[in-house]
Amino acid sequence: MDKIREEDHNQLINQAYENVMGLQQQAAADPHRLQFHMMAPANWMNDPNGLIQFKGEYHLFYQHHPYSAKWGPMHWGHAVSRDLVCWEHLPIALAPSESFDLDGCFSGSAVDDEGTLTLMYTGIAPEGSLHRQIQCLAMSEDGRTFSKFDGNPVIGAPPVDGSEDFRDPKAWKHEGQWYVVIGSGKEGIRNVLLYRSADLREWQYVGVVAESDGTQGAIWECPDLFALGDKYVLVVSPNVEKAKNIYMIGDFDYTTGKFVQESMGELDYGFDYYAAQSFEDDTGRRIVIGWMDIWGANMPTQAYGWAGAMTVPRVLSLLPDGALSVLPVPELHSLRKEPTCFNNIVVDSGSSGYLGELRGDCLELIAEFELPESRNAEFGLKVRCSSDGREETRFGYRVAEGELIVDRSRSGLDASGISRCGLSLPDGETLKLHIYLDRSSVEVFSNEGRGVISNRIYPGQDSLGVDLYVSEGRVRLIKLEVWKL
Ligand code: FRU
Repeated sequence: MDKIREEDHNQLINQAYENVMGLQQQAAADPHRLQFHMMAPANWMNDPNGLIQFKGEYHLFYQHHPYSAKWGPMHWGHAVSRDLVCWEHLPIALAPSESFDLDGCFSGSAVDDEGTLTLMYTGIAPEGSLHRQIQCLAMSEDGRTFSKFDGNPVIGAPPVDGSEDFRDPKAWKHEGQWYVVIGSGKEGIRNVLLYRSADLREWQYVGVVAESDGTQGAIWECPDLFALGDKYVLVVSPNVEKAKNIYMIGDFDYTTGKFVQESMGELDYGFDYYAAQSFEDDTGRRIVIGWMDIWGANMPTQAYGWAGAMTVPRVLSLLPDGALSVLPVPELHSLRKEPTCFNNIVVDSGSSGYLGELRGDCLELIAEFELPESRNAEFGLKVRCSSDGREETRFGYRVAEGELIVDRSRSGLDASGISRCGLSLPDGETLKLHIYLDRSSVEVFSNEGRGVISNRIYPGQDSLGVDLYVSEGRVRLIKLEVWKL
């Protein structure tokens, strides 16, 4: 093993950070630049990495290419927050620099090893290496500067159950032992592999935690496994059209390393949600953050020198009926300004203008509707409406289908598609929508967090209207609370 060239690494980091900070103004000038979501100062960002609350401070690392607004050799960008709302950018934590990660520092996680912030990530070794995706460590005492472990890689080859796609380690501690899950696959079937360690440095392979039914693709990216209530949740990112971020609820046995699935769904049913990672904070909440974009999407912000954002942080919990609930963290209330409230509005099909002068591109809206009599109706809220009626984004409920939708087919630039999420509302139940609107994103949480949809949209700057709608008959809005953010 060569000696780690720490000075060279620092130099690479400083150079990369200087470059990205120099482009911050240009990115900020984009009318679609988000206002309250976490983004890199400029250039490319994808997966959240290394989420942890360490010595009281929340840390968010992320896949970052500091030299262009497109994906390239992966670095780990770094930001910290005291409240999960305001993020402070810190110098880049990891840059590709050594024989074990020269082609990139891919996704991974963070743990607190008795006061040492320890990152576990996938190093991409240069072409021609025996194994290219290998698992590495980097440590920090101050949570600011990181030294790569000189015994890297700590897992230098996939086990027999895995393939050369062998990445995105998510580590945690349980009853004095370290565990890590790693995304892989075997003969076209995706799987999640488990290792155990006493010291984070020497790892023993335990076995296959779970594998797909074999119908799609080759790897489950960014696995995450954690206890929630009296169950375990396994999350994976398969990156196929209809299954971006799957969660499975079930049981997990630490001795056999096997996960037994009881139910499943999507952590978010939007087009722009991927590679979610969770962590437990000091109050015991399970918080999850996802990359609010997706591979292959059009990203018009690249023209301004940036691409990629994180969703708002969300809390996961299990509802009494066993369903997964995903809700925005209450800390976001600190963003609220200028509250407005509307009560008891009867909406007729074909009419508009129910909310008067309400306008905005950064809003929080909490709405409650009675279900309409007409079974064929679609009803809800429209945002980012242009005055000529050409642009709008709809948050709707389709009664007959029992489906929550976000329609962005008329949302503006590069607009396409309707996101759908099954949401059955029993008789007498109302539709509750909790919406976060930022300059180029929409996130909606419905009924106790039972359905979530996140999408990027790129409307015209003047498309700011908000309205209510119903496709046929009438519907009653019980209450709408709105805040500017
Ligand atoms: C998921 C992913 C990971 C990989 C990283 C590379 O979006 O493909 O599997 O570690 O992105 O940036």
